[in-house]
Amino acid sequence: MRIILLGAPGAGKGTQAQFLMDKYGIPQISTGDMLRAAIKEGTPLGLEAKKVMDAGQLVSDEIIIGLVKERVAKADCENGFLLDGFPRTIPQADAMKENGITVDHCIEFDVADEIIVERMGGRRVHPGSGRVYHVVYNPPKTEGKDDVTGEDLIIRDDDVEETVRKRLAIYHEQTKPLVDYYRAEADAGNTQYHKLDGTQAVEAVSAQLADLLG
Ligand code: AP5
Repeated sequence: MRIILLGAPGAGKGTQAQFLMDKYGIPQISTGDMLRAAIKEGTPLGLEAKKVMDAGQLVSDEIIIGLVKERVAKADCENGFLLDGFPRTIPQADAMKENGITVDHCIEFDVADEIIVERMGGRRVHPGSGRVYHVVYNPPKTEGKDDVTGEDLIIRDDDVEETVRKRLAIYHEQTKPLVDYYRAEADAGNTQYHKLDGTQAVEAVSAQLADLLG
């Protein structure tokens, strides 16, 4: 099963990716997590990406396409994968097609901008695994600690309101056109397109996904 999770920053892609990974046993490919790992390791890519991400901008298509091509070729992707945060521009989607990477489902999470800004203020993440929490809507069992490892949770550098608003503007300009792109792919019989109301409770969104995907 090959799935694209499409939606604005903070729409709940990473949260539902955790659910889908557990349920279907397929790996999550989060370009954001890959870039944050490179930043942590201090690689040249990480140093370059940090400036761009902190400014709420997108990393170049060339770099991202290279990262994803390499990742989907790994053995654990044989039975499928979840693309979280990729593709994010039309050239990225075209590059997937050109490289013969097809998808079975494209799932759009629909959430209004103001709800996203409010959500991001309460987001906490476990940097080691990418697990995501919210202080009110999806709290960890112990405040400030990851449920699985007990390690500290952090606030992402790009979750300050000013940067979130910039990321939302870029989403509308560069990523939202992918909605029409994948609807057209679905009309051509190349994928299935599903639009979900991402403002429902986390468990309700997961239940709807399970219904859709079987
Ligand atoms: P990335 O890490 O991909 O961030 P994003 O797409 O902006 O998405 P987020 O991780 O912020 O949100 P999400 O939808 O996963 O929401 P979450 O589940 O955490 O990218 C970061 C940066 O990397 C980019 O800005 C760019 O610079 C670069 N980059 C990455 N990919 C790239 C690419 N392909 N091309 C170019 N550049 C790229 O949920 C958010 C919060 O809401 C959490 O606190 C969660 O607990 C809570 N929540 C989730 N669901 C619900 C719900 N149903 N109800 C209430 N609260 C909820």
